Amino acid sequence: MIAPPDDIDRIMSVMERAFPPEFGEAWNRRQVGDALTVGNCRYGLIGPDGSDVLDPNTDTAGFFMGRSILDEEELLLFAIAPQYRRQGLGRQLLQRFINQARANGMARIFLEMRRDNPASYLYAAHGFREIGVRPAYYRTAAGSRIDAISQELVFDD
Ligand SMILES: CC(C)(COP(=O)(O)OP(=O)(O)OC[C@H]1O[C@@H](n2cnc3c(N)ncnc32)[C@H](O)[C@@H]1OP(=O)(O)O)[C@@H](O)C(=O)NCCC(=O)NCCS
Repeated sequence: MIAPPDDIDRIMSVMERAFPPEFGEAWNRRQVGDALTVGNCRYGLIGPDGSDVLDPNTDTAGFFMGRSILDEEELLLFAIAPQYRRQGLGRQLLQRFINQARANGMARIFLEMRRDNPASYLYAAHGFREIGVRPAYYRTAAGSRIDAISQELVFDD
């Protein structure tokens, strides 16, 4: 899914606000652009009012990026900018990602997150379950180690 430069700007504007620098989770513009030139990657945006069609004067509240292989999709990145959090936008965007994955014929969604990320509450509420741990997988800027938790959502139908 090729993204127009304006949409990459929108993704980057959220990326720069949303990910705490100490965890090194944010991607740079080149990584985002490269991923989105590959046919199996897709993205979605959400505006402050929950809309997915953003006019040029609207701020971007959040985005997701996913990559599918056969009938499995990985949620690569998912973020809501800090000033728009706890208003239900993350829930709405995740539901949209899940609905689209299902409509695209996916059998399973997979993701990996650092242990104790508050996003786990949101994932659990949407039916994700933990399927694995990579001990001490991430290293913070301060040098400490954090486990990576793998989660999946399987579509039963
Ligand atoms: C995770 C994230 C996307 C949530 O976005 P959000 O718009 O605040 O989420 P919502 O408002 O839809 O929250 C839905 C529910 O998730 C849970 N939740 C969200 N953030 C939470 C937090 N910081 N602590 C505890 N529970 C939280 C709550 O149950 C919440 O419902 P409630 O507000 O009615 O209690 C956002 O915090 C974020 O971008 N974090 C940084 C990036 C990141 O870590 N992404 C995930 C990578 S794996």
